[in-house]
Amino acid sequence: MKTENLPFLACPYCSGNLEISSIYRSEDDIIKSGNLCCVVCKKTYEIVNYIPRFVPSRNYAASFGLEWLKHARTQYDSYSGVSDSEDRFFNETQWPRDLRGQHILEVGSGSGRFTEQAASTGAFVVSMDYSCAVEANYASNGSKPNVMIVQGDMYSMPFKKSLFDKLFCFGVLQHTPDVRKSFMSLPPFLKPEGELVVDVYKKPLVPFLSTKHYVRPITRRMNPDKLYKLIRSYVDFMWPLCNAIRKIPKIGSTLNWLLLVADYSRWHSDLKGNMLKEWAYLNTFDLLSPKYEQPQRIKTVQRWFKDACLIDIEVAYGYNGIEGRGKRKKSEGIERNGI
Ligand SMILES: C[S@@+](CC[C@H](N)C(=O)[O-])C[C@H]1O[C@@H](n2cnc3c(N)ncnc32)[C@H](O)[C@@H]1O
Repeated sequence: MKTENLPFLACPYCSGNLEISSIYRSEDDIIKSGNLCCVVCKKTYEIVNYIPRFVPSRNYAASFGLEWLKHARTQYDSYSGVSDSEDRFFNETQWPRDLRGQHILEVGSGSGRFTEQAASTGAFVVSMDYSCAVEANYASNGSKPNVMIVQGDMYSMPFKKSLFDKLFCFGVLQHTPDVRKSFMSLPPFLKPEGELVVDVYKKPLVPFLSTKHYVRPITRRMNPDKLYKLIRSYVDFMWPLCNAIRKIPKIGSTLNWLLLVADYSRWHSDLKGNMLKEWAYLNTFDLLSPKYEQPQRIKTVQRWFKDACLIDIEVAYGYNGIEGRGKRKKSEGIERNGI
């Protein structure tokens, strides 16, 4: 963590300013290990492996930590050869490619495939995740001068309010214990007229047609390590059959999903062979392991945006199910924060 980035942070308990209270190791002015202390309530927080940590190392997102450490690069465009993350980031946010001078907050960054996209705009990106996936993100994006990575919880965010020009939260809300509360935690961190973009799974019309509906009650409670090994063996075992099924016109990949193998060939015909299989390992685990999965209705998402008093609201079916955009009002008071 760089000292110059301290003004973004605030105590997650009392919103007080933080100061660096100790430095155990630093390299080239970057703190590798040390402590932050709240000047108001005196709570302390560790900096471990360059990342300020505001949450316990074990929490409900442990399966995501494992998933993104095992698949730290799998969904990066530069690794997979498909432009999935770039297309989704710019289509979903509708933000321009040049955002120099702006501050973006990313909530629930996983391995950081969207952090890379946000950073490519030249904006300063503060990227937070609840799990140890922050380590994977740091390895890919941490050395960029316009990126800061933080381990924190969206229910008690360690940032100053009214600070960010833009905030995005992709693939996260449905995996939290109280989805409305998670959404509501986001707008206060935007400046007046700051833009919010979120997505969330949509509720299926007939959930009992989806095989995962029957399996998740068991798998979501399993030890993530054991489940990951089991899923790899299962995908390896099923793969020759899945390759044959995929050739059935129109319904091949859907049948594979019903057999609980996440087959992305329908969306990415360029993903082939081992890369397609790697995505299958990652996404089959992602399908079955999260502790929480709470898809939503479009009307519910529209109501959240209205209840949060956002303006210029657009909520539609799109990436990941439902995507929504809105802006904070101009007239809302801004808290002075020194950035
Ligand atoms: C499905 S992953 C999506 C990661 C990334 N946005 C992407 O789409 O590649 C969901 C992420 O949300 C994070 N998450 C879950 N609950 C959270 C919380 N309360 N605060 C911050 N992040 C959270 C998980 O740790 C996980 O990395």
